[in-house]
Amino acid sequence: MRGGFYHIQTYGCQMNVHESEKIAGQLEKRGFLPCENAEDADVIVFNTCCVRETAETKVYGHLGRIKSQKKSGAVLVVCGCMTQRADVAENLKKRCPFVDIIIGTFNQYMIGEYIDAFIGSGERIVEVWEHENGGSDGDIARASGVNAWLNIMYGCNNFCTYCIVPYVRGRERCRPIDDIVSDAERLIASGYKQITLLGQNVNSYIYKGKNFVDLLKCLEFDKKYRLKFMTSHPKDFSIALAERIARSKVLSHNLHLPVQSGSDRILAAMNRRYTRDDYLKKIQSVRDLIPDIGLSSDVMVGFPTETEEDFLDTLDLVENVRYNNLFMFIYSRRSGTPADKMPQLDYATKQKRIDRLIKAQFEISKSIADGYVGKRFEVLVAEKSGNKCFGKAENDAAISFEDKNDSISVGDFIEVKVTASKNANLIGEVTD
Ligand code: SAH
Ligand code: SF4
Ligand code: F3S
Repeated sequence: MRGGFYHIQTYGCQMNVHESEKIAGQLEKRGFLPCENAEDADVIVFNTCCVRETAETKVYGHLGRIKSQKKSGAVLVVCGCMTQRADVAENLKKRCPFVDIIIGTFNQYMIGEYIDAFIGSGERIVEVWEHENGGSDGDIARASGVNAWLNIMYGCNNFCTYCIVPYVRGRERCRPIDDIVSDAERLIASGYKQITLLGQNVNSYIYKGKNFVDLLKCLEFDKKYRLKFMTSHPKDFSIALAERIARSKVLSHNLHLPVQSGSDRILAAMNRRYTRDDYLKKIQSVRDLIPDIGLSSDVMVGFPTETEEDFLDTLDLVENVRYNNLFMFIYSRRSGTPADKMPQLDYATKQKRIDRLIKAQFEISKSIADGYVGKRFEVLVAEKSGNKCFGKAENDAAISFEDKNDSISVGDFIEVKVTASKNANLIGEVTD
């Protein structure tokens, strides 16, 4: 036991948010306690992301600041997807001598041992592995409230031409189905009301002949809880999965199905391996089977060679599908990926396109939200402060409401009627 305080700064996706809970588990095992401010910490961890250049710029900016803010003697660790890249690790090593430990995604689970070694010897550690070695995560210090993240697989085999993830997270590795089921049982027994299964492409889960739909069937426990998963890849999304969602008592009625582009030419250049038509057909089958489904997606503008016509195809798809929620990105060059070598667009064109897309989506989100006024939803209460409650409906819509009788707790499932929608935000009241 060492004692003292730790602070973890997390960048990137849900995968990283959960990785940080594993890192916290390693630190708490050594007697460290969490603290709000990096200035007060004895161990500071930056768990980084490199999916877009903006993510990396943010990390460098925060590192520059932490240099003067950190307590003297505090240990500074940089890990995650960014350091998994040899050039970045080398750059950090040279340019940031105040970083004590630099490790990658494959040896992150050993962070506690690296910290012990550094405190013992005072010698800087720079160690990034090329592959995992079968080590396990150990205890997890969960910080996610009513929701528990649960990895079902790691890595990605898809190599979309713009994406760095397969290079920094390695090839797909699926966890044994029995381990996942027993983890889920344990999490529910300990009070979690929602489980989110995590993987870069959960639809390609396969373990000893059992696929993702088989896994979902094994998670159909006779207890009230919500089951979610992310992310789905349209090429592997099956009608069998839509049917499972329709039949299930636990699966949430929302689906995140990233389309990336509405242009067949761009989809091919991205190596997405589906067409606009394949995608739209799948969306239609989902809506036929699950009429109240909440849909979300990721879309990118400004991919190399994207013309105004390609962009209009994306805009048209977005207006056609009418997503409840859309994550919109400007394409960002990632060195080492095939798209980095393709002819690039200028920044102004990309910026104008994303502005148009954001505007179109805002109108869609607003009109969907307006349409929810008067409807009733089952909300899982995720936050409560005073008598103000916040939670998500079964289709993932976020709703705020008041607990007038002071009878509601975080983790309750409550029926809420939507009474108003302000700029796409829903306000509701508890039904009698
Ligand atoms: N495996 C998931 C998540 C990948 S990263 C999936 O396939 O959906 C999350 C999102 O970031 C992607 O869906 C994509 O829209 C975006 N993204 C990935 N690489 C990017 C890049 N180079 N530039 C801009 N956005 C990118
Ligand atoms: Fe990246 Fe594509 Fe894999 Fe998603 S499926 S992580 S976008 S390579
Ligand atoms: Fe996630 Fe960023 Fe890594 S999106 S997988 S933390 S590169």
